[in-house]
Amino acid sequence: MKLHVNGKQVEVDGAALEMRLVEFLREELDLTGVKNACDIGACGACSILINNEPLKICIKRVKDFEGSQILTIEGLAAPDGTLHPLQQAFVDCGAIQCGFCTPGMVMTAHAFLLKCPRPTRDQIRKAINGNLCRCTGYQQIIDAIERAAPHYPSGLQAAASAESPVGSAHPETATLSTVGAS
Ligand code: FES
Ligand code: FES
Repeated sequence: MKLHVNGKQVEVDGAALEMRLVEFLREELDLTGVKNACDIGACGACSILINNEPLKICIKRVKDFEGSQILTIEGLAAPDGTLHPLQQAFVDCGAIQCGFCTPGMVMTAHAFLLKCPRPTRDQIRKAINGNLCRCTGYQQIIDAIERAAPHYPSGLQAAASAESPVGSAHPETATLSTVGAS
């Protein structure tokens, strides 16, 4: 079975198919940005993008994502390490404190801004409703999303960008790897 993770193709077989996707990404692919917190789909810390839609993956199995385009926080920055404007906005606005919620929050916000690049603060508030943060009080997070919004294309450009497998992220050159636990 094939997955597409941050622009790379990954082949999966054997027992790995039965793993929860959050564990697979963290333990087999070393993508530890995605967090496993509540384990019941309640907090949003495990949010990533599947085909440009945000999804909490702590209760999902690898085998359910055949052919899916998966984007994690590691796929947002440019290959040279330059932060995505949304990541930079989180830094600049002080929207990161302990940081545990941040990858899920950023990915949820990224999916939202791809679809709604000129949001009101109320729309932003609603968009991150399913992502919990114990530290910030949310205001800096909303500030950051608002600050990053002008970097997202609007109108027809937004539609074209949303059709792209990984949105406006910076896909790395595709490589093939195989992951299979026996
Ligand atoms: S860890 Fe998945 S929603 Fe909390
Ligand atoms: S920054 Fe600590 S939970 Fe959000």
